[in-house]
Amino acid sequence: MFNAKSDTIEILHAKSKNEFSNLAAKSFCQSLKSSPQKKPIVILPTGNTPLPLYAELRNSEKKLDFIYFQLDEYIGLEPSSKRLFTNWLADEILDPMDIPHEQRITFRSDNLFPQDEIDMMRSWYKENGPADIAVLGIGANGHIGFNEPPSDENSQTRLVKLSNETLKSNNAYWDNDKKAPEYALTLGISEILHAKKIILLATGKSKAIILKKALTEPPSPEIPASYLQNHPNVTVIADAEALSEFKS
Ligand code: PGA
Repeated sequence: MFNAKSDTIEILHAKSKNEFSNLAAKSFCQSLKSSPQKKPIVILPTGNTPLPLYAELRNSEKKLDFIYFQLDEYIGLEPSSKRLFTNWLADEILDPMDIPHEQRITFRSDNLFPQDEIDMMRSWYKENGPADIAVLGIGANGHIGFNEPPSDENSQTRLVKLSNETLKSNNAYWDNDKKAPEYALTLGISEILHAKKIILLATGKSKAIILKKALTEPPSPEIPASYLQNHPNVTVIADAEALSEFKS
């Protein structure tokens, strides 16, 4: 009923909150299980969208084991900061799932030389990649990770300046009590597209226009998520609001 331009993208319509978290968890666990690796490499997003997936995984009896490879991180935060994406993911899923610390490959936000972090992540990925699964959210401006528009399909792990739109939505995670850093590190589009399986999650009206554009318009740097059309195995799990721009 909902069709992307590329036939390598399947779109699953979650008709309720429950169904959204079930579909997301099912798709994630199936992809983990079908990986030939004993410890698959998994890229996971922060944001509000994946929270139901993490809750579902926490509440299930399943014991999951994987290597977590970080998607993006702010620059300049102390290791104890509650805003650190590393800490956010640790609370939501990595600690509850008992993922050992040595299986968490992350950017160090407080490194005064961010280029070292970029080099480390690039070379780790070159040696150990590709990721088995990349779970992603989509920004209202079409970003994936912190690949803000314009971002090229060949972009690699790098330092980025966050757009005003992203800063505004990220500040809202913390009730706007303090401003989020303006600079961040992100995996590039090319590294994300290397993942064997991509699961894109989208919920809410604010994602409706961009989701439709990303899945149906010709891929372009102005909508970084549109490059997912060039990936061979993408599952989009979205609610009715996020899919509301698609004609059914
Ligand atoms: P959200 O963020 O899940 O909080 O909407 C998604 C994103 O900006 O990538």
